[in-house]
Amino acid sequence: MRISIFGLGYVGAVCAGCLTARGHEVIGVDVSKTKIDLINQGKSPIVEPGLEALLQQGIANGRLRGTTDFAEAIRASDVSMICVGTPSKKNGDLGLEYIESVCREIGYVLRDSERRHTIVVRSTVLPGTVKNVVIPILEECSGKKAGVDFGVAVNPEFLRESTAIKDYDHPPMTVIGELDSASGDVLQALYEELDAPVIRKPIEVAEMIKYTCNVWHATKVTFANEIGNIAKAVGVDGRDVMDVVCQDKVLNLSQYYMRPGFAFGGSCL
Ligand SMILES: NC(=O)c1ccc[n+]([C@@H]2O[C@H](COP(=O)([O-])OP(=O)(O)OC[C@H]3O[C@@H](n4cnc5c(N)ncnc54)[C@H](O)[C@@H]3O)[C@@H](O)[C@H]2O)c1
Repeated sequence: MRISIFGLGYVGAVCAGCLTARGHEVIGVDVSKTKIDLINQGKSPIVEPGLEALLQQGIANGRLRGTTDFAEAIRASDVSMICVGTPSKKNGDLGLEYIESVCREIGYVLRDSERRHTIVVRSTVLPGTVKNVVIPILEECSGKKAGVDFGVAVNPEFLRESTAIKDYDHPPMTVIGELDSASGDVLQALYEELDAPVIRKPIEVAEMIKYTCNVWHATKVTFANEIGNIAKAVGVDGRDVMDVVCQDKVLNLSQYYMRPGFAFGGSCL
């Protein structure tokens, strides 16, 4: 597939390297000329084991190039992946200005395009962002209709920094949030070689799955730290306690007690 990737930071650079390694043609787009120059020299804009080799290979075999010319990149691709940053604002809100700016760029180019283009949001966004922000901007700037004239999907990223390439190749799952099945089909084809379940959901569900996973990981860290504090206060090694707690994959680390619904009760709880 021919893919333009907007934002060559952590997520975008890893996607660029891994997608070219799997035979796709990638055009990396960033507002930073420095990052584009690095990509075009086969150098990694981030420190991540194994990434530079993939980027070098991509430049050498002609499947990867970088540009600041977003319009040319969109015209030369069938899919645009939005991987720009979403920095927190001072009040804690999610900053969407980079996403909005990329959507305007894509929308204006789609105005004169005959082919169906699919826009994939890979940045982490709150549920409702694609419906209330991304699609309205794309439709207004292109004068076209989402789900009819162009495709829209979200595809949350689950990589961890420092093991990003391995995480890309062996994800726990691939989550696709699709506006329509044609948009989801494009993404599914992109990942069909990966040995992981592909889960297709409506867009808002996929947006919320990503946030829920992040919050769950944060809850685990916080929980383990709290147990560590309490254990220390009673003279016990919390790591020893948590090692054993984690060995129970039936009740402790499992789907049990993880379903929203009724209140809990019972003598133990
Ligand atoms: N870093 C992670 O481990 C990770 C994992 C999963 C999801 N995410 C999410 O993915 C998104 C990107 O994160 P990141 O860590 O890669 O961010 P980053 O800050 O490393 O990179 C973002 C890039 O976007 C570029 N950019 C900004 N505006 C642009 C525009 N108009 N056109 C083209 N490029 C533009 C910036 O120059 C920068 O290179 C965020 O929403 C983040 O929450 C990050």
